[in-house]
Amino acid sequence: MQIAPSILAADFARLADEAAAVADVADWLHVDVMDAHFVPNLTIGLPVVEALRKHASLPLDCHLMIEDPDRWAPGYAEAGARNVTIHAEAATSPVRTLRAIRAAGARSGLAINPATPVEPYADLLPEFDMLLLMTVEPGFGGQHFLDLVLPKVRRARELIGGRDASVWLQVDGGVDHETIGRCAEAGADVFVAGSAVFGMTDPASAVTDLRAMAARAAAAPRD
Ligand code: DX5
Ligand code: ZN
Repeated sequence: MQIAPSILAADFARLADEAAAVADVADWLHVDVMDAHFVPNLTIGLPVVEALRKHASLPLDCHLMIEDPDRWAPGYAEAGARNVTIHAEAATSPVRTLRAIRAAGARSGLAINPATPVEPYADLLPEFDMLLLMTVEPGFGGQHFLDLVLPKVRRARELIGGRDASVWLQVDGGVDHETIGRCAEAGADVFVAGSAVFGMTDPASAVTDLRAMAARAAAAPRD
């Protein structure tokens, strides 16, 4: 069970302090890289990731919402990101790029949007360490969770295997105290939360609470 606070909801002028606020309770720091082409928003890129590597202690979980990830993704791994996730909708050569990410020393991730089915990527499972299911349309923080993705979370868990499987199942978008339980119950084991962590007055206790809720829901018997 991993909790990855998204710095998209943090104060960009105080990133090191914001990262420090969750350093003892979170597992990774989720870094949303957007290029204003793949998604209609522009956030941060490689220089900020390099700076965070120096000034933040948590491993960096880089989510690339950019065109041409085949070209740019290995650079994030070389910069020291622990995980580098590319979008299936944007990659021309996902197998080659996922392998390049691993070769550069990071764990590889594949992300899909709410309308993208998971089944076509089942054969690629050996090529990635994490499957990211977007639970909002990518591009902005603070959106409403899309319940329509939950059946896909269940199908993805079946494809990946049980909870001790080697591939993580990450959900991203609108994950908060109301929705995290449904995600965990459906089989997710990595939870990205932006507003529900950095939008709170006490980000550290928000992480602790979210983790407890996810653990409770995952342990609950299914019908
Ligand atoms: C959205 C990003 C998310 C975003 C989540 O495109 O990929 O990581 O930061 O923010 P919340 O948790 O506020 O929906
Ligand atoms: Zn993200």
